[in-house]
Amino acid sequence: MAEEIIKLAGLAINDMGFFSIGLSGGRTPITLLGLLATTYSNLVPWSKIHFFWGDERCVPPDHPESNFGTALQTLISKVPIPSQNIHRIFGELEPSKAADAYEKDLRDFFFSNSERSYLLDLILLGIGRDGHTASLFPGDSVLQEQERWVAVVSAPSGVTPQWRITLTLPTINAASRAFFLVSGKEKQPLVHYILERRPNASSFPAALVAAKNGVTWFVDQAAWDSAFDPENPS
Ligand code: 6PG
Repeated sequence: MAEEIIKLAGLAINDMGFFSIGLSGGRTPITLLGLLATTYSNLVPWSKIHFFWGDERCVPPDHPESNFGTALQTLISKVPIPSQNIHRIFGELEPSKAADAYEKDLRDFFFSNSERSYLLDLILLGIGRDGHTASLFPGDSVLQEQERWVAVVSAPSGVTPQWRITLTLPTINAASRAFFLVSGKEKQPLVHYILERRPNASSFPAALVAAKNGVTWFVDQAAWDSAFDPENPS
């Protein structure tokens, strides 16, 4: 995935002079971010890349559950990204204020580059065990939002942190490309439900992602093959 991101970045920078990427949250991207910060760091034109987020938890950036905090520790603090290229969601603010501020940042940035037929060049996404992506959870009314680019979401009971800020589905789908990064056996049923387009797949928000120039899934062996047994690899 790191190599594919670098390829897309090169194409976008040649075409428009910059590359805009939306990072996903959770734990799965940590290895990828670490690779970009080390092995691939010299191949990345950091000053021309703008970082956004698909979602954020309503916690301060130094909180262990902060998606920005995770990216700061694993990537941003290790490479020369200009501060004006970091478009974080202010999780420390009151949620509606954080959502309004992020929506303004997105609109200002993309309206100043309005000759594009899409928003983010690339959005990275993960998938939760319930089929959520970003902070779009199954059955949430936010899935019907067509006007706002950014929304406040209360996660399902038992999911913490409860309050989150998320890109809405139309904004995710306004990206040129979407990459899903999926790892772990517990996600295997979802991956097959969605990729094999089984009847109730559309009940999973991750199945509703349809970026303008395609969605690519990067799935590890454990998340692909339920027969995969780490103790007895075939
Ligand atoms: C978040 C993410 C969320 C995440 C999935 C998978 O803020 O939680 O954006 O959509 O990608 O929950 O999380 P893991 O990678 O930790 O399994």
